[in-house]
Amino acid sequence: MSERTYPKVTIVGAGNVGATTALFTLMHNLADVVLIDVAEGLPQGKALDMMHARSVEHFGPTVCGTNDYADTAGSDVVVITAGVARKPGMTREELVAINTDIVRSVVDKVVAASPEALILCVTNPLDVMTYLAYKQSGLDHRRVLGMGGVLDSARFAFAVAEATDADICDIDACAIGAHGDAMTPMSAHTTICGKPITELLTPDEVDALVERTVFGGAEVVGLLKTGSAFVAPAASVTQMVRALLSDEETTLFSCVYLNGEYGISDIYLSVPARISNAGVVGIDELALCEVDLLRLRESAAITAASLDELSLRTSAS
Ligand code: NAI
Ligand code: 2OP
Repeated sequence: MSERTYPKVTIVGAGNVGATTALFTLMHNLADVVLIDVAEGLPQGKALDMMHARSVEHFGPTVCGTNDYADTAGSDVVVITAGVARKPGMTREELVAINTDIVRSVVDKVVAASPEALILCVTNPLDVMTYLAYKQSGLDHRRVLGMGGVLDSARFAFAVAEATDADICDIDACAIGAHGDAMTPMSAHTTICGKPITELLTPDEVDALVERTVFGGAEVVGLLKTGSAFVAPAASVTQMVRALLSDEETTLFSCVYLNGEYGISDIYLSVPARISNAGVVGIDELALCEVDLLRLRESAAITAASLDELSLRTSAS
């Protein structure tokens, strides 16, 4: 009996985030996966291990591990997780020098093999690396995006649920801006059963939840000691991959190219964006209070400074 055919997703980097994303992608029956890494044997071993789980979990698609970009040809979506992750005490920004070289070389090979693919960047510092992937690829900015806001919003939702005992399914959380210390968890847009948390909690309680969200990644790093978070990141990437394979639009907090939205230009930051298999289809601006708008612009300024250090930007915002 012939098997169903699936879209093709390449995941570059078979480390914690890449391999876990591969597993979620398979388990949700979203796509055949090619897992590629510079380390010989690593993607092959992880792919084989996942394929051994296939008869237990009964997922339809397959995964192939490789070190050869020829195997990635014709991908619909390419997820870039290649790079170095944070160690305790390290900021995401310290990763910039190492990961710049990696992302440049990966993007060149990815685009040569799959010129039609949408590119989803995960490597940190996210907003800078996504911009770099856009520039290096030569693609339209609507075809290159990053994952940051989905994860940050998920962490905000967790913090609210834990502090209030509310059901996680009743919480709509919203964190936008840089995927870093300058991120903007938006309390007035974060609701429990439709009610803003700013009406349910004291300002001090809200501030504590914002703090927990901004430093959620660092909290995990501090506990793990040997790397950074990967399960919630992979779940967040998989949600974006699902949207990028669909012909229906989904609004997700995506790291997208801003071209005047929120008064910010020529910068990638996470904001609600409509995405589909056509890439970034539209950005519907949220009505932000002055404080949140200022913080978002601060995110933009910090990201712009990093990009300027790399001499990547052609215009100033
Ligand atoms: P990891 O160290 O477990 O895996 C990284 C993998 O990349 C390694 O297997 C390594 O061999 C591979 N690699 C290095 N250079 C490569 C190249 N030139 N080509 C192909 N593969 C290459 O790290 P982890 O935890 O998977 O994190 C990956 C990246 O994702 C890091 O930069 C991390 O900071 C970032 N990250 C971003 C998140 C986000 O929300 N955007 C969330 C979590 C992690
Ligand atoms: C995180 O937020 C390190 O960016 C990664 O967990």
